[in-house]
Amino acid sequence: MTISTASRQVDVIRPPDADSSLGTLLRTWRKRALLTQEQLAERAGLNVRTVRRLEHDGLQQPRIRSILLLAEALRLDGAERATLVTVARGPSASAEHDDPAGSGRPPIPRQLPAGVAAFVGRRRELMALADYHENASTMTVVAIDGMAGVGKTALAVHAAHRLTSRFPDGQLFVNLHGHTEEMSPVDPGDALARVLRTLGVVDEHIPEHIDDRAALYRSVLADRKILIVLDNAADEDQVRPLLPAGPGCGLIITSRRRLIALDGTRTLSLDVLPPREAVALFTRTAGKEQVADAPATVLVEIVERCGLLPLAIRIAAVQLQARATWSAGHLLNRLTDDRLAELTAGPHSVTAALDLSYQRLSEEQRRVYRLLGSHVGTEFGAAEAAAALGTTVTRARRLLERLLDVHLLRESAPCRYRFHDLVRDHVSALLHQTDAIDDLHGVDGGVRFRVVKGLVGRADRSWV
Ligand SMILES: Nc1ncnc2c1ncn2[C@@H]1O[C@H](COP(=O)(O)OP(=O)(O)OP(=O)(O)O)[C@@H](O)[C@H]1O
Ligand SMILES: [Mg+2]
Repeated sequence: MTISTASRQVDVIRPPDADSSLGTLLRTWRKRALLTQEQLAERAGLNVRTVRRLEHDGLQQPRIRSILLLAEALRLDGAERATLVTVARGPSASAEHDDPAGSGRPPIPRQLPAGVAAFVGRRRELMALADYHENASTMTVVAIDGMAGVGKTALAVHAAHRLTSRFPDGQLFVNLHGHTEEMSPVDPGDALARVLRTLGVVDEHIPEHIDDRAALYRSVLADRKILIVLDNAADEDQVRPLLPAGPGCGLIITSRRRLIALDGTRTLSLDVLPPREAVALFTRTAGKEQVADAPATVLVEIVERCGLLPLAIRIAAVQLQARATWSAGHLLNRLTDDRLAELTAGPHSVTAALDLSYQRLSEEQRRVYRLLGSHVGTEFGAAEAAAALGTTVTRARRLLERLLDVHLLRESAPCRYRFHDLVRDHVSALLHQTDAIDDLHGVDGGVRFRVVKGLVGRADRSWV
């Protein structure tokens, strides 16, 4: 139908009928998107001849991947996309054409690792996660951040298991290795390829370019109710291509970094455990009989020496469990001597976890971390930090923000900062590892001072 106006003719685009052909659907939605066939082909990464033949219903068995790319290029919503795919498959389509893999329908992915058997606490966070994901009518993204070993993965996996009925099409779990020893963070293009394979897309159908992979990923997920856990993300750039768009999808991300630049994301910053829950974690891991004779005060002191950090508590508890001759009091004495040395069990160690956070800092941030850890009091403000760093208060605030973002520093009250006890120990240990006298430049490069080590774990500063 065409309506004439005073100045020009306007095409009125009728909604397609229920029994429209694939060609009619494509033509209608292309016109609605104000695209020519050439523009649509370019946007979808397809040959224009393919688009023309599809619009003229000249292809008997169109590839579903091409149809999904066209749906993405036409910005179809979930229902329209489903209609397009159904019509493209046709009533007599064989199973081979029913899925992009061309190899039968892939099994529903159930990739969540086992949850922590002795999971404790986190009631408020679990309720927030359940409430958000269960009552959502759009795609939901929650990013859990917090310091190394605080329990982000344990919480994400525990919550995801509880949410499986809300996501019947499956659960994906991808470790992005943002902080893994001797491993670089996973390239998002590689992560997309892996996920696409899991979703049934065969290798020859996985596009080369990351944007095309991301588009195909969104298309494949558009009509599914799938929960995706992206564990251990390095930063926003790594995560962004892996964001689905379908309203039925949910995403839980964990990261040591606050992911503030991801649109439409709720963030949940995880703190250490309250003492009661910390003792419960210690007791459950060590075994009730192992701590049966220990006074409650000793148990509280142990978890406090562990900085109430789940990773440290678990390691300490495993040590006690493994040593039949140790008592809780003996463990406490050892933790009082040199806790970082004690908080190591096989491949797990608090030092190794903090080292990885430290290694991911820029050279300047590392210097700031070392200087602050050795020069300021337990709690400090921006002015004290500025004095220690030899810079202005404004710049000191910015530098502090960066350490806050990666949870190597905490804000105890507005503009009041402190290190977690174990982090402070980590800085002291670092200063002992470096050369006897470490020349450190002021962060602005203009001021120079020297850190002389070996003074009971604190460095002494002398201006040069
Ligand atoms: N709420 C909890 N209940 C029981 N165990 C927990 C809890 N939170 C964490 N843990 C245990 O503490 C250890 C560290 O937890 P987790 O690996 O989840 O930390 P993380 O924050 O993901 O660390 P990273 O930054 O290194 O990825 C694990 O052994 C985990 O099982
Ligand atoms: Mg983790």
